[in-house]
Amino acid sequence: MTTAGLTEQFVLGNYGRFPISFTHGEGSYLWDEDGRRYLDFVTGIAVCALGHCPEVMKNALTEQGGKLIHVSNLYQIREQAELAQFVVEKMMERPGKVFFCNSGAEANDGLIKLARKRAFDKYGAKAGKNVIITCKQSFHGRTLGGIAATAQEKVKIGFDPLLPGFLHVPFNDIETLKEAVNEHTAAILFEPLQGEGGINPATPEFMAAAAELCQSHDALLMFDEVQCGSGRTGDWCGWRTLLEGTGIEVEPDAVSWAKGFGGGFPIGSFWASDDCAGALGPGTHGSTFGGTPLGSAVSLALLKAIDEGGVLENVKRQEKRIKDAVAAWGHPLIDSLRGAGLMLGFVVDGEVLRKQADFVESGKTPSLYVVNAAMEAGMLTVPAGENVVRWLPRLDVPDEEVDEALGLFKKVLDSLI
Ligand SMILES: Cc1ncc(COP(=O)(O)O)c(C=O)c1O
Repeated sequence: MTTAGLTEQFVLGNYGRFPISFTHGEGSYLWDEDGRRYLDFVTGIAVCALGHCPEVMKNALTEQGGKLIHVSNLYQIREQAELAQFVVEKMMERPGKVFFCNSGAEANDGLIKLARKRAFDKYGAKAGKNVIITCKQSFHGRTLGGIAATAQEKVKIGFDPLLPGFLHVPFNDIETLKEAVNEHTAAILFEPLQGEGGINPATPEFMAAAAELCQSHDALLMFDEVQCGSGRTGDWCGWRTLLEGTGIEVEPDAVSWAKGFGGGFPIGSFWASDDCAGALGPGTHGSTFGGTPLGSAVSLALLKAIDEGGVLENVKRQEKRIKDAVAAWGHPLIDSLRGAGLMLGFVVDGEVLRKQADFVESGKTPSLYVVNAAMEAGMLTVPAGENVVRWLPRLDVPDEEVDEALGLFKKVLDSLI
């Protein structure tokens, strides 16, 4: 039976999938079952940080896989502790403690528990200091905690009763945020650079206002860096990239990661400052597979390779090359290019597309229409909402592959007008 047939018959139909299946990958390239090669600028949605099957991951998987794979958090785990040390010293550069889990949604569930438990310990149940404020167009994952936190109706429909205690405010709207924060606020949680919601950066002023409000109301400022963290913006911390050169400094109380943190090995984590990490003491939280010797060793090897290989510098260099090239196109189909590092969103002008009968008949959103056309031309991209096409190449993508992507994508855009 074909892969599509097997999938349809046996796999839960919860994903809208493209009709291709890959057999192998190397660097920025994937090959499908017909042997066709694709230039992959999706990387598993910002996951394969160093591309497909990088040597550093293959080596860590086989070396650690032959030594110790899993033991349980009943015991001390050297590899986990060393990965936590890397997060604290290299990524955060601030004292704190790290928890490990398996995904982004789980990492965010952990943040929600951290904020509530901290407020409970400090103020007691009667204070009702348990509300988490999140932002419109956010995406925080598919667990019950994740969909309650996510301020997009489409992920919540049909799952009532939802986890209570969440309040959604418009992203970057300081006045509404001020009105929303009160003595019941346990935390403000947002993605410094929204991914699924359309590659929307938080303004430095919004981040600073959120930090001030958290301070004045004794609430936690928590950043979801599941997509924009782990070096994707050209710094270890996405919000620091966005604040660069503004003179504004903001530091959160807690941060979550997943996706690129494991380069394809399923691992999530969060860091909490020493001021609040103690709220999750023994017996309050856990995960069987969180921080296994294998997962930790693979993640640490990957992150060290990013750190030592000049990869963050490459991210910033390629961002500039892409932004300069796209600005020079002045393409009628592209309203703007936004984002930071190698988390970039092409805003497609739907009005231009609507002049094409093919587009109108397709019933597709502008972003999906462009993504499909690029796929037919041999390049993988991914929508972020209805109008934005995302580029999420590997962080160590070389000049030739960026040039190839620019050439291919421009040709695709030209063919659509
Ligand atoms: C910002 C953000 N948070 C959380 C998640 C959920 O991560 P996961 O799918 O690993 O649960 C995602 C996934 O797209 C995300 O982009």
